[in-house]
Amino acid sequence: MTDKKARLTVDGQDTSVELPIYACTAGPDVIDVTSLTKNGFFTYDPGFMSTASCESKITFIDGGKGILLHRGYPIDQLAEHSDYLETCYLLLKGELPNAEQKQQFVQAVKDNSAVAPSIAKLIQSFPKEAHPMAVLCSAVAGLAAVYNDDTDIAKAEDRDTTAYRLIGQMPTLAAMTFKHLKGEDFVEPNKALDYAENYLNMTFGNSAASKVSPTLAKAMDRIFLLHADHEQNASTSTVRLSGSSGTNPFAAIAAGISTLWGPAHGGANEAVLNMLEEIGSVENIDTYVEKAKDKADPFRLMGFGHRVYKNFDPRAKVMKQAADEVLSELGLENDPLLAIAKKLEKIALEDEYFIQKKLYPNVDFYSGIIMKAIGIPTEMFTVIFATGRAVGWYAHWDEMVSQPYKIGRPRQRYTGYAKRDYPE
Ligand code: SDX
Repeated sequence: MTDKKARLTVDGQDTSVELPIYACTAGPDVIDVTSLTKNGFFTYDPGFMSTASCESKITFIDGGKGILLHRGYPIDQLAEHSDYLETCYLLLKGELPNAEQKQQFVQAVKDNSAVAPSIAKLIQSFPKEAHPMAVLCSAVAGLAAVYNDDTDIAKAEDRDTTAYRLIGQMPTLAAMTFKHLKGEDFVEPNKALDYAENYLNMTFGNSAASKVSPTLAKAMDRIFLLHADHEQNASTSTVRLSGSSGTNPFAAIAAGISTLWGPAHGGANEAVLNMLEEIGSVENIDTYVEKAKDKADPFRLMGFGHRVYKNFDPRAKVMKQAADEVLSELGLENDPLLAIAKKLEKIALEDEYFIQKKLYPNVDFYSGIIMKAIGIPTEMFTVIFATGRAVGWYAHWDEMVSQPYKIGRPRQRYTGYAKRDYPE
């Protein structure tokens, strides 16, 4: 509990309203404002710039120091020593798995990676011009039709099964979306392959188990890992709010996919590649940096800036290192887009505007360059982000529903008409 309290004064007058202050393991203390309403006030915080929406033990971000911890483990150490499914277990269970626990978890995910025929038909019903995120969002919402009656979210074992189904089927759905839009046959999941290997085989392979490059498989696994979770970002907050009504977990995850799609959030990775291609050469960079600084110009440097990080996004550092490694191993170290990205980063980081506004590269700045090198088309980038982030969304949903929770219901600052009568 707490012995620290904030006391509300209004225009210098004491209101006798005491607000408890709770300490955190790390990060700012929080002021509990739940009693404000009965004292005639709401808080007002558009965009939730200063609002802690929940208590969580999953991920911690220190935006000033560029720190990202998953259950206390720094993201760079996980990227170096762990893999995506081990990190999934960590996010869901709170501890790294021992060998037996990992083997059982990996097998449970593999055993739940096949997609129901009804969902395959749903994906095939979409036009080839559909954006992959629209297809993925519909397909995941469709899982709520497949898995509804047999799921009691109050039971831990049902929530575990749902986790295996979600983590197992996201890469299958992503690959099926890709194959459908390319007009190619689906490739079934192959249990003999590791997670990222299986995704690449379902995406680029044929019906047989094609040989997947270990370099590309490791890069793909690291991309999933780096996108796994990020505290209460817009899409995770959406999943929590949606889930707080007690809805089907796949429906809540589909709401998160919708939110991630936007260019201010997960859609930025697609926007970064389109921006780099629009810039076209290092000679044009200065023009675009000036456009990004021009208030009258809606152009923003995609892949730069962050609501929380006012220092380097630690994921961007790992992603940049991975981009160098993957492209040099593929003989693409002279990739023109990589050259533009590196030059753009250098110029921006030395520019007073970006320094003053603390705008640094975020997770989306380099991820697209790796995905393009792997052969993933730009419009699929956010689908990859969603595939990696599914476990983070689910971990937060599970953390919420596994203990007493209330439906989320924010209030507002009303500035519309006062009561008026209908004209006689
Ligand atoms: C993700 O929240 C998460 O954790 C998200 C995420 C995750 O893992 O879930 O990390 C993933 O979404 C990363 C962010 C990807 N988006 C982009 O790269 C799009 C480009 N970035 C911007 O749109 C912006 O930086 C945001 C949306 C990321 C953050 O927006 P904020 O916190 O609301 O900040 P802001 O828009 O109020 O910007 C503050 C100032 C503004 O100038 P002033 O009004 O103060 O004069 O900085 C400027 C902005 O104009 N600014 C930029 C800029 N980003 C902010 N100017 C030029 N280029 C940019 N990219």
